[in-house]
Amino acid sequence: MMPPPEVKTPTWLLNQQLKNNPLGCMDAIYKRYGDIVTVMSGSTPIVHVSNPLGIKQIFNNTKEITDSSIFFRDPTLTVGQQGILEVDGLVHKHRRPLLMRTYHGERMNASGQNICEITKKIITQQAIGKTFTAHELVLKIILQIAIEMVIGLREGERYEKIKHLFTSLIKYEGSLLYDLIVKEFSFAQLDLGRWSPQGYRNYLYKQIFQFLFDEVKERRKQTDFSHTDMLSELIFACDETGKSLSNEEVRDLLFLPIFASRDGAAYSLTWCLYWVHRLKDVRDRLLEEIEGLGKNPDPINIVALPYLTAVCNESLRIRSSPMFMLPRLVESPVEIMDYELIPGTVLIGNIYLTHQREDLYPEPKKFKPERFLEKRFSPYEFLPFGGGARNCIAAPFATFQMKLVLATILSNYKLELVNKQPERQKRFDNQCHPRGGVKMVMHGQR
Ligand code: HEM
Repeated sequence: MMPPPEVKTPTWLLNQQLKNNPLGCMDAIYKRYGDIVTVMSGSTPIVHVSNPLGIKQIFNNTKEITDSSIFFRDPTLTVGQQGILEVDGLVHKHRRPLLMRTYHGERMNASGQNICEITKKIITQQAIGKTFTAHELVLKIILQIAIEMVIGLREGERYEKIKHLFTSLIKYEGSLLYDLIVKEFSFAQLDLGRWSPQGYRNYLYKQIFQFLFDEVKERRKQTDFSHTDMLSELIFACDETGKSLSNEEVRDLLFLPIFASRDGAAYSLTWCLYWVHRLKDVRDRLLEEIEGLGKNPDPINIVALPYLTAVCNESLRIRSSPMFMLPRLVESPVEIMDYELIPGTVLIGNIYLTHQREDLYPEPKKFKPERFLEKRFSPYEFLPFGGGARNCIAAPFATFQMKLVLATILSNYKLELVNKQPERQKRFDNQCHPRGGVKMVMHGQR
């Protein structure tokens, strides 16, 4: 049996193309090689799959394909090795439901009103007539929601401190210095003290982990059990052997659920704001639907709106912020779409290319929310949150939040895009983000 076809472009050139024009580069690869293709990284075959049948096989062949944590450990960091991404096997399986409780059912529904209030509070601070970057605005909203849900802080000195630390880290990792120097050159990854590029990054990580550790210790001392945040849950949780989680384990688990605001959540919402303000017909229909609910609608009624749901889904389809699923490792020979993959192969479910398939989504480059009203897609055809053992722990919450923030902004404020040109994309790790952050201007209240 043959291995999947291999991309012939030299790796350094391919990486450059994937960085500067990620979507164009992937479209070209798909056109030339089709549904399943190998990209070599040194001697490791990395196989990208964008056919629903292949995606299904990745999700279901759990004996041969593992969601190995070896991919997620950052060797340049000295903290946080027991987070959800860094553990695998039984420990991973056990930890996931502990985190998921915060983002499902009653707890999620109860957060609706708060999400709308936080959105209004932050957007009201925006000066009228002045240009702002949608991504920065959205990040402020999402970060505040995340800090409250994860560690229960919503104001005061401690809240300001952790918000400042996360914002500094997110800004630093999004800076040109980090992107062009630290990520590219191994010498720049040496920690030569706080004033060196990697040293500053390590310093911020250490400060955040120290802060979270202090919060865990403080919470253990408290006798008020009314908190409903993730931290309060975790300090009472047991590990797979029935022992309480240690302070270090709780600390490490808290990091990603806050940090994830940067990636999927903030980029997805920024793209969604972009599309809605670019396409007048979509915006008018959406506004009409939201206004049909009357003044101050119940968040539960907002999230049930069909066109709003279709708009968010279409935005997640056309510019899914994570372009790929997390990598999986082939541990014993496995057949995917009639190709045999050898142990050591890395498998990537290519979310972007699956969402661009002409056979599933006719005219895939066009933003057409109606397609989600006319057809139901399977979890192997529409997969913005991945699937299988490592799917997004916050998937229902992420769309819940996306709909509420979008509906609140749209129905209360008049915003406009500053640039008439289409927003270009840029790749940051696994994420496809708007290159200019989407510049907008606020014209006042509706
Ligand atoms: C629209 C927003 C979001 C999108 C599109 C998104 C998408 C994804 C995707 C594609 C994956 C990989 C799934 C796989 O490989 O099968 C993932 C994993 C993950 N996401 Fe999200 N995500 C979003 C928001 C969030 C939020 C708000 C959180 C906060 C808790 C979060 C936490 C995680 C975690 C912890 C994982 C790894 C799960 C594991 O390793 O078991 N995501 N997400």
